[in-house]
Amino acid sequence: MTALLNGEMSVAACRVPNYKNMIIIRTVAELEEFVGHQKRNGNQIGLVPTMGALHAGHLSLVERAVSENPCVIVSVFVNPTQFNNPTDLATYPRKEEDDFRLLAEACVTAVFAPSVEEMYPGGPAAQPRHEFRLGTAAEVMEGKYRPGHFQGVAQVVCRLFQLARPDRAYFGEKDFQQIAVIRNMVESEGIRVEIIPCPIKRADDGLALSSRNALLTPEQRRLAPEIHRALKESVEYSKSHGVRATHDTVVEQIDAVPQMRVEYFEIVDARTLLPVEEWEESPWIVGCITVYCGEVRLIDNIAYRKP
Ligand code: PAF
Repeated sequence: MTALLNGEMSVAACRVPNYKNMIIIRTVAELEEFVGHQKRNGNQIGLVPTMGALHAGHLSLVERAVSENPCVIVSVFVNPTQFNNPTDLATYPRKEEDDFRLLAEACVTAVFAPSVEEMYPGGPAAQPRHEFRLGTAAEVMEGKYRPGHFQGVAQVVCRLFQLARPDRAYFGEKDFQQIAVIRNMVESEGIRVEIIPCPIKRADDGLALSSRNALLTPEQRRLAPEIHRALKESVEYSKSHGVRATHDTVVEQIDAVPQMRVEYFEIVDARTLLPVEEWEESPWIVGCITVYCGEVRLIDNIAYRKP
């Protein structure tokens, strides 16, 4: 473990020489020891939880974490308990070697990349049953269309928080609802960590960066920016139209594109995530959308009103 703490193990554990001094941690015991060492040295810890297949969106979170914490841990773990669709889990992109290289280049202190067995000994089904209290924010939108998804997210993020004991944790605002749910989990579990939301990163054509974009065919990738285009146009439209009309124009425009189907589009109060009917109902209103582009499920959001 001494080797792990002073960084030597990163060289031994990785075949690619340019991982610099980044440490690769595969087990819970090693992570706990590493974190204990950082805490004893008085180092604040920033955690960036990811499911890998990293893109510039993730790297913007990492960059912020590196600028704010002397120790940054990035977890790379495709969490099976948050997938309600087995095909989605099986096809989720995995690119571990590329991820490690990008993280080393971004000056991350340690990567935590455990196996499923390491995170869930005996398998996910063998874990003690714990129902997280996630509030109504977890029941709408993703919560409605992906039953059990947020319990799975809360389970893995809670475990990562317990193991990595971060001072700050960084999440992308593309998953706007996820941030609200994680805040509720942190509060109900009494975990002391600052949750830091980071802005959505987009490709030049406006498509929100997502690991799932890699699953789009070239034709679907060409069409997918329509999601952001319709949302952006609707912000202007919303200045002279009501909530219902704004909702309908977005859905109509996206549904008119070949291969694209809106699963849901909800215009909600950004704090409660409950639907609004009038723009005057809240100072902070967000439109959250999920669209199937062929078989690929893409999500995005846009603010209509911001305090
Ligand atoms: O947003 C994600 O990639 C995942 O939901 C998270 C937070 C890493 C938990 O598995």
